[in-house]
Amino acid sequence: MDKSKRRTVIAGNWKMNKTPSEARTLACEIAKALEGLDTCDCVDVVVCVPFVDICTVAEALKGTRIKIGAQNVHFKKSGAYTGEISAPMLAECGVTHVVVGHSERRQYFGETDEVVNLRAKAALEEGITPIICVGELLAERDAGITEEVVSRQTKLALAGFSADEVKRTIIAYEPVWAIGTGRNATAEQAEEVCALIRNIIAGLHGKEIAEAVTIQYGGSMKAGNAAELLAQPDVDGGLIGGASLSAEEFVEIVKAAL
Ligand code: 13P
Repeated sequence: MDKSKRRTVIAGNWKMNKTPSEARTLACEIAKALEGLDTCDCVDVVVCVPFVDICTVAEALKGTRIKIGAQNVHFKKSGAYTGEISAPMLAECGVTHVVVGHSERRQYFGETDEVVNLRAKAALEEGITPIICVGELLAERDAGITEEVVSRQTKLALAGFSADEVKRTIIAYEPVWAIGTGRNATAEQAEEVCALIRNIIAGLHGKEIAEAVTIQYGGSMKAGNAAELLAQPDVDGGLIGGASLSAEEFVEIVKAAL
């Protein structure tokens, strides 16, 4: 397994946390803690912030290598969709990544695989990298259908994508039972499912494309377990919730990826 064919991406998902002023403080703390660390060659660092924080954080991170992500995107470019935010709007604000299909959106906002696919497509059209989240519920793992669930989510999310679009997409394996619970998947469990996702992509677009896709793990990743998870051959980074709200903890995770 050759990880040099793809980028390692450490992304913080701040979820619904931080007002703009609080976001500026945290962004500046992260930038300061990363200063002097040579991350540019092999690791991308991204902070996925609430919509209203995007401009403030973009301003605060100007001149750094830290990239700005959003946490959702609508699939139309504009129109009568009250309360929604489009990919062209995000792109103009400097957004380079967007989380799509997070389990919290699937669970609380009824997001389907079809909508996840449309959102990811809309992001790609604007040159924004979708971070597509997939992952099984605890009951699904217990029932022995993790592979079936993750395969279905991955295939439907990538339906109709060209090989080039798949290459520009990040998949985040986030077992729902590991999110916010303090109970991370073991390195073996994370590797098993990330490798499965890569195999699915290989089946769709060939081995070369599959080798180029970044596949992250997310779910209670923190400074203490990041190194072991990130050392797995098919785990190319992390999508970090709780621990990304502490600059110190987040930067320790970045260091574990170097
Ligand atoms: P936690 O790191 O808080 O478990 O959240 C993971 C997550 O949902 C990232 O998108």
